[in-house]
Amino acid sequence: MCGIVGYIGNKEALPVLLEGLKDLEYRGYDSAGVAVLHDGKIERIREVGKVEMLAKKIKNKTKEVRLPYKGVLGIAHTRWATHGGVSEKNAHPHTAGAGKLALVHNGIIENYRELKEKLNESLESETDTEILAKWIFKNYQNVGRGDLFQAVRSALLSVRGTYGLVVIHADHPGELVAARMGSPLVIGLGDSEYYLASDITPILPYTKKVSFLEDGEVAKISREGFEVFNLKDEEISKSVIKIDWDVEKAQKGGFENFMLKEIFDQPTVFEDAIRGRMDIGGGTGKLGGLNMSLEEMRQVKRIILIACGTASHACMCAKYAFEKLSGLPIDVDVSSEFRYREPIVDRHTLVFAVSQSGETIDTVMALREAKKRGAVARGIVNVVGSTIAREAGAGTYIHAGPELAVASTKAFTNMVAVLLLYALEFGRLHGVDLETGQKILEEFLKIPAKMNRILKNSNDIKTIAEKYKNNSDFLFIGRGINYPVALEGSLKLKEISYIHSEAYPAGEMKHGAIALLSSDFPVFAIMTKNELYEKIKSNVEEVRARKSKVIIIATEGDAEAKELCDDVIYVPKTMELLEPLLNTIPLQLFAYHTAVALGRDVDRPRNLAKSVTVE
Ligand code: G6P
Repeated sequence: MCGIVGYIGNKEALPVLLEGLKDLEYRGYDSAGVAVLHDGKIERIREVGKVEMLAKKIKNKTKEVRLPYKGVLGIAHTRWATHGGVSEKNAHPHTAGAGKLALVHNGIIENYRELKEKLNESLESETDTEILAKWIFKNYQNVGRGDLFQAVRSALLSVRGTYGLVVIHADHPGELVAARMGSPLVIGLGDSEYYLASDITPILPYTKKVSFLEDGEVAKISREGFEVFNLKDEEISKSVIKIDWDVEKAQKGGFENFMLKEIFDQPTVFEDAIRGRMDIGGGTGKLGGLNMSLEEMRQVKRIILIACGTASHACMCAKYAFEKLSGLPIDVDVSSEFRYREPIVDRHTLVFAVSQSGETIDTVMALREAKKRGAVARGIVNVVGSTIAREAGAGTYIHAGPELAVASTKAFTNMVAVLLLYALEFGRLHGVDLETGQKILEEFLKIPAKMNRILKNSNDIKTIAEKYKNNSDFLFIGRGINYPVALEGSLKLKEISYIHSEAYPAGEMKHGAIALLSSDFPVFAIMTKNELYEKIKSNVEEVRARKSKVIIIATEGDAEAKELCDDVIYVPKTMELLEPLLNTIPLQLFAYHTAVALGRDVDRPRNLAKSVTVE
């Protein structure tokens, strides 16, 4: 996820900006840049790779052309590519008006094509951000010289999408303008100096006094103070708060560790995954990354999803949706198996390689194998510019932001989200009617609020986890689309708590796993109200008869579930195909709280790696 730093004050801006970028490195990035205003001129410098390399480049350049970079006003950015590949040209800050205006931006401008047409200018980069910079500059010319703040405000009235942005202008050496819509920005208050950043980490070394911008707010910051307005130009009175976090806590957004932060990120990043990717009117998904005409889509006779670990569970969830909606044959294959079989694929087979990191070697090799055999290959990846993203040629980013805890959480939900949208796109081609398509999308929009309802119960789940933490075995059961949810819950628990656990399709339990059950072998059942509710209820009865303790994930309002078990966790009702988006969250929290209760290193569990680049 990109990072922003800004400074206006009386000391040299460059060291503040570079230190700030280093503090933001934990968020993950692929390139960095700064722009400093000095002597009526903006000096900009950018580099692919680490902030260290940017600092080195500045040092060399200073020697070479004696550029001072001495200004007391500047902006800086670490970029995590979304639109456009990883290159110096695509790195921020972007400029407009022959270098007069510079801008850094986090987020995605949805209507960048529309703005580009209106601008009719040549562009240096492939980014939506450069278009935004040029659009603001055009507004600057229109609203007349002298008012940078009004230029930004009026430009944003016609911008759709998400942004946290900071703008400087060569003719305004005493002013920073910042705005927020969906992408965080915080102002740090010093003594006749102000800091700006995408989170408080770069600010903490200088001041503990901060003010958070809210969506739709635009701030005008000078050395004398700051004022905040809404997009209608009405002044907003802002409160200043004192933060007593240390830097480490700030990086984790105030959470104890990255895994918990990432679990709580899910409602927000889910919105990032679906934003601009739904055609509500047409009742379908709108994923440009597929890069296929309708005719080419109709030629697809079979779909294969290849992935490892958590990603493969996301694929298994999607299989139910693809089958139900598109009627096409669909297989899910673990990459390490796919690549060593003789998989039957041809040019009518669409293969999705699904991976958070985009670097998992088995998935990379499986993708190559599929391409070699003539399949149409696409990537579904989190890390932009990763090997799978590059080699697949086309595909979709899941926009989960950097996932730093080894155990994957938010990438799972965003993979499911993107795959479901694909399933719907194919479904609409193969007979799903408009009304059904629209119903699914309407339910999609309700998911973030429902996720938040589950997250609010984190402390209750903690109590349950503490009760069971000394058990050495666990069985997770689910049916239909909740079978992969059981697999994911079991994987999370074993990964980070090291408790032995297995997952079974509930109907299959009586063919083996039931022999394990006894009073010290608890069972987790995912028993939400769907078509298979009665069936799994019978399986739960079978478990109870063997004296196992039972924890149930049930739909809110299901009083019967409570009677059947020792502990119940309620989740909001949603459509069956969307259930994994909700039902997985309590299981993530259960694994998390169990691991914490056992004193495990939650973010870095033993023997595991975040990105597995060896076979
Ligand atoms: C490792 C990680 C898992 C992840 C799997 C696949 O095992 O520990 O969390 O699910 O790799 O990774 P990918 O980056 O391809 O999704």
